[in-house]
Amino acid sequence: MSAKRPLVGGQTPTSTPTPLLWAEVHLDALINNLKVVRRILKNQKTEVLAIVKADAYGHGMVPVAKALQKGGVNFFGVATLDEAMALRKALPAARILVLGSCHRSQVRLFIRHRITPTVSSAEDARFFEEAAPENGRFPVHVKIDTGMGRLGVWHEHAEDFVLEIARMENITVEGLYTHFSRADHSEKIHTLDQLDCFEKVIARLEARGVRARYRHAANSLGVIRFKKSHLNLVRPGIILYGLRPSDEKLPRGIRPILSLKTRIAFLKDAGKGRVLSYGATHRVSRPTRIATLPVGYSHGYRWALSNKSHVIVRGRACPVVGRVTMDQTLVDVGALPSAKRWDEVTLIGQDGAIRVLAEDLARWIGTIPYEIVCGLSSRIPRIYKRFTRNESKRSRAGCHRVYNSLE
Ligand SMILES: Cc1ncc(COP(=O)(O)O)c(C=O)c1O
Repeated sequence: MSAKRPLVGGQTPTSTPTPLLWAEVHLDALINNLKVVRRILKNQKTEVLAIVKADAYGHGMVPVAKALQKGGVNFFGVATLDEAMALRKALPAARILVLGSCHRSQVRLFIRHRITPTVSSAEDARFFEEAAPENGRFPVHVKIDTGMGRLGVWHEHAEDFVLEIARMENITVEGLYTHFSRADHSEKIHTLDQLDCFEKVIARLEARGVRARYRHAANSLGVIRFKKSHLNLVRPGIILYGLRPSDEKLPRGIRPILSLKTRIAFLKDAGKGRVLSYGATHRVSRPTRIATLPVGYSHGYRWALSNKSHVIVRGRACPVVGRVTMDQTLVDVGALPSAKRWDEVTLIGQDGAIRVLAEDLARWIGTIPYEIVCGLSSRIPRIYKRFTRNESKRSRAGCHRVYNSLE
């Protein structure tokens, strides 16, 4: 009988195939970030509504939400009814708020699956009033626009609008919320003005006997920069995933939870003068070795990163050379004679002393880290990890500073 030849990582041909491109999501790091958020909150009674829309910013909505629920969060924000229904299946007891608009044809599903809609118009409210069980007091959250200009009733008209809804019999105004448009601005005044408008609406409504159970305004930057905006519910998204919403320093202890990894799928020598990839945008200037990685713009490793980014192989930064293609990307590993076919490659994450953050990729191509992680394709398998015992100890000992030294 012939001996089975090892494939990647010592596996035999009969064992489960190793993915050649995958994302590792650290659920303990997520919970760690949640704890940091909770520590920042001005009032410990303030609840957290975790934003898990867009597949939890590319991290995988269901596993992320399940981990957060174990961490004590029971309120989640998504963008659409589809997302809400997928979440409802996984978390039967969770509260779910849809932040986007609701079409009339969707109203019954909202009600049947106990999904809370955002109401921005009298028309929206009437659909729910007509479809909800009589005196069922179906909860809705009313969006008040204090300066964003997208969903929501303008704050000047909010008082009458909310009073009209509050008089309806089958629905109840469980929440009032607004969203900040310039919480990253060096001048805090814009956000404080928005908050002031919102608080005035709340106060006028309370004076007229309408008090919503939840009042909420703070996204991640609200949590970090505007304690006054915490009210009794906060809506953090990106900081839970350990990413920076702006140039603002992240609170100590927050760290990224996702690494994107691949392997060298092919390796070959390239002599001086060779040109690489579509458009021949890179010419080899000295004999080197070129690694082909099985990742491209169809996976979310953006075309704009062509000739701009680097990856980490064996703890060393290696430049991306030539154009990123649909499924493959080339990297110059000439400075790393020890590089071998099937070596692990870090596209986002840390290897040894080097790290590449989603923020770095975003900066190199002039976008925001939100777009980098949200753009990671569903074709990339997500592997969910928990800390090993040693990592937990290091984490408690303050190892997170390594990740947090961007500033
Ligand atoms: C209404 C609303 N609230 C909260 C958030 C979370 O924002 P962030 O990820 O910046 O914390 C978003 C994200 O886009 C949002 O649209």
